[in-house]
Amino acid sequence: MTFLVTGATGTVGRLVVAELLEARQQVRALTRNPAKADLPAGVEVVGGDLGDPGTLGRAFDGVTGVHLINFAGDDYAPLRHGEQIVELLAEAGVKRVTVLGGRVDGPLETVLAASELEWTLLNPVEFMSNTLKWWADGVRYQGVIREPFGGRLSAMVHERDIAAVAAKVLVEGGHGGRTYTLTGPEALRTTEKVERLGAAIGKEIGFEELTEAQAREMWAGFGMGQETIEFLIDALGNTPEVGYTVVPTVEEVTGRPARSFAEWARENAESFR
Ligand SMILES: NC(=O)c1ccc[n+]([C@@H]2O[C@H](COP(=O)([O-])OP(=O)(O)OC[C@H]3O[C@@H](n4cnc5c(N)ncnc54)[C@H](OP(=O)(O)O)[C@@H]3O)[C@@H](O)[C@H]2O)c1
Repeated sequence: MTFLVTGATGTVGRLVVAELLEARQQVRALTRNPAKADLPAGVEVVGGDLGDPGTLGRAFDGVTGVHLINFAGDDYAPLRHGEQIVELLAEAGVKRVTVLGGRVDGPLETVLAASELEWTLLNPVEFMSNTLKWWADGVRYQGVIREPFGGRLSAMVHERDIAAVAAKVLVEGGHGGRTYTLTGPEALRTTEKVERLGAAIGKEIGFEELTEAQAREMWAGFGMGQETIEFLIDALGNTPEVGYTVVPTVEEVTGRPARSFAEWARENAESFR
């Protein structure tokens, strides 16, 4: 069977590609820039822009299932052309669709829910890889993490587990009409994550808890826009219950336990050294 992965050059998409290849499936990958895609040999790379359905050409032809992102563009704007995309999927005879979602459903999810396709919405909580984005420089250069809300709990999920669920759902089917929240196996406080990361890299990492005002000032100093700062304050300061409530979905769907943050930290230790 052939599967199309959108967002295939992104954090989760690359792993969906890897999981499908491991399951010995044919993989087609969509990207706006095939020359830069750098995907494994054997993957059929096709150019196209989800923000412009006219460019999607024959990307869906002969495809059993599609893994979709629900945004288009580097600012993660919600996908506006969901209706046309769902029409193209139906015309091409695509059977199954997974959608990488977030905290709230966008227009694509609404259109899909009303369609005849076998759709499954995947709503991961915070990715473990966010720590790479936010913490790696602080750990590498100063040996300290500066953040507000040190006692905040999060049931962070390993990106590989999101991908494993997507691949299982696409290849095996039987998950149509479901919305899956995806979490890791435990809810950890920020300070506990710092400890586990320190253990993985073999070095004690300091944690300096910032006030909200200090965090705003620091992020503004990094050149972050007001909108991003507000998003972060809200995401860290008001993590919704779903973000720290462990659910067994990864294990139920994949048949193996969700990966822990300690495992993630060991796999990624080199990036923090
Ligand atoms: N980080 C978190 O904690 C978290 C938690 C829950 C949910 N999420 C959700 O996860 C998603 C981000 O996933 P990610 O981190 O894997 O993404 P990412 O690493 O930022 O990669 C973005 C991907 O989107 C593709 N893309 C962007 N605009 C496109 C367009 N117009 N047409 C086709 N492809 C396009 C890019 O492909 P090309 O550049 O190759 O075209 C790239 O592969 C967001 O929806 C976010 O809400 C994130």
